[in-house]
Amino acid sequence: MKTSEIKTVSCIGAGVIGYSWALYFSLKKLDVTVYDISEESLELAKKRVHDSLNSLIKNEVVNEMEGKEIEQGILYTTSVEEAVKDAQFIVESVPEDYDIKRNIVKEIESFTSDETIIASSTSGLLITEIAKDAKHPERFIGAHPYNPPHLIPLVEITKGEKTSESVVTTAKEFYSSIGKEPVVLQKEALGFICNRIQMALYREVCDLVSRGVCSVEDADKAVTYGPGLRWGIMGPSLVFQLGGGENGIQGLLKHLGPSINLWLEDMADFKEFPEEFGSLVQAGVDEEIKNRPPEIGNDDASLAEYRDKMLIEMLKLHNKL
Ligand SMILES: NC(=O)c1ccc[n+]([C@@H]2O[C@H](COP(=O)([O-])OP(=O)(O)OC[C@H]3O[C@@H](n4cnc5c(N)ncnc54)[C@H](O)[C@@H]3O)[C@@H](O)[C@H]2O)c1
Repeated sequence: MKTSEIKTVSCIGAGVIGYSWALYFSLKKLDVTVYDISEESLELAKKRVHDSLNSLIKNEVVNEMEGKEIEQGILYTTSVEEAVKDAQFIVESVPEDYDIKRNIVKEIESFTSDETIIASSTSGLLITEIAKDAKHPERFIGAHPYNPPHLIPLVEITKGEKTSESVVTTAKEFYSSIGKEPVVLQKEALGFICNRIQMALYREVCDLVSRGVCSVEDADKAVTYGPGLRWGIMGPSLVFQLGGGENGIQGLLKHLGPSINLWLEDMADFKEFPEEFGSLVQAGVDEEIKNRPPEIGNDDASLAEYRDKMLIEMLKLHNKL
């Protein structure tokens, strides 16, 4: 199938990720149908679409009239057949469970053409395993979004053993054509690219806090006002390229290598998060939230609102909205 033939998208599962995908596809003027087994989930999805659109209107991403069209462009149903029969591209965002995902894939395939691409939002399950019982494993891919998918451009595309290269190419082109930034994993890897990078960083946060080197608040502050600012512009390798002056990243690694090796020697390498870290970090986060001025969010709801507002400003700078 050619990317230009993708006009209708079906979102299967209308939770946190499914509603947000649906909103994004409608924003990009695709026809969208959302399916969920639960009427309540569909009602909640409608409300979430409405609230997120209000935030996009408030932040001048779309105007009120466009907001109405985007909202009306999404159809909701509890019939899989109705949801998928006309779709050229299907995004599955049901719970993270092999059995649930395998069953829904079988159900979807009973109503679709042999051309339709199915993309799973899975956060880390193996595509080969989800597609184990599929009639067409060659047209099944992983397309892992970052929450919320209607704002974060990254999509990590993963292949199963039987996924066809032409399906990966079409999916990559499709996501690019609607303003996403797809990256393709050449091999299956648990956690994909970004969750692995996030957890490598977070293992070190855990260790620094547990060893009493710094508070949770200072670790957050250090990332937000230090490397986090640069990472929002370019990736860590490009940042190091600039840090190495005329000798680039290779020069930087040569120059700092002996010091870096000493840090690495001292850094965390545990394979399981210590159980007691949960209560320790929660207390630290509660304290951090208490210390924040209200205008940058000082409870969960206002933090989420502030995050989305800042994301929108950054995406505008990246020409991504
Ligand atoms: N939440 C995140 O931050 C995040 C980020 C990236 C990827 N993901 C992945 O996205 C997927 C969905 O996660 P979520 O956070 O949206 O979960 P969720 O619990 O918010 O939503 C799941 C939805 O699926 C529905 N559902 C359950 N069984 C179903 C079935 N058989 N058919 C149709 N709908 C069914 C539920 O009613 C619910 O509305 C998971 O694979 C998850 O790993 C989540």
